Amino acid sequence: MTELSAKSNTGDAKQFLVRLERPDRIYSFLAAADEYLLYAMIDAGIDSPYICEQGWCIACAARLLAGSVDRSGALTVYPEDVEAGFLLLCSTMPRSDLILSQDERQTRRDMMQHRIEHNCLARAYPPGARSRFRRGRAAAHVDTRDDHSS
Ligand code: FES
Repeated sequence: MTELSAKSNTGDAKQFLVRLERPDRIYSFLAAADEYLLYAMIDAGIDSPYICEQGWCIACAARLLAGSVDRSGALTVYPEDVEAGFLLLCSTMPRSDLILSQDERQTRRDMMQHRIEHNCLARAYPPGARSRFRRGRAAAHVDTRDDHSS
């Protein structure tokens, strides 16, 4: 897990206050504008489920209750997810102070059910997405050499 111990932000980026509401407790932590929320949480000592760190598996699903975010780091993000307030902590950066909710046992299931109901599982990756994608914090330093290979 060396990726998780490396800093992804420059230290100069604006920081936002994030309130995370879980069934058993409310957490607060700071997240930089150039930092994925998952890593800000882990750095603050807050555990979260995660697997792919690419915005694909939805293990890290949460809901946005207030504030604005940048979901563009996710390998899959659908307008229906945004409308329903879902986000993926591993590939979402804050753009304001935030209020999030996450039930570590239920939110992923809710997002999966939401995607099934909206036929989102059948959609394909955008062209070239797989070859450009890097896991976790390395995703901030995407190698774009593959962009011109096809
Ligand atoms: S860890 Fe897979 S989508 Fe976040």
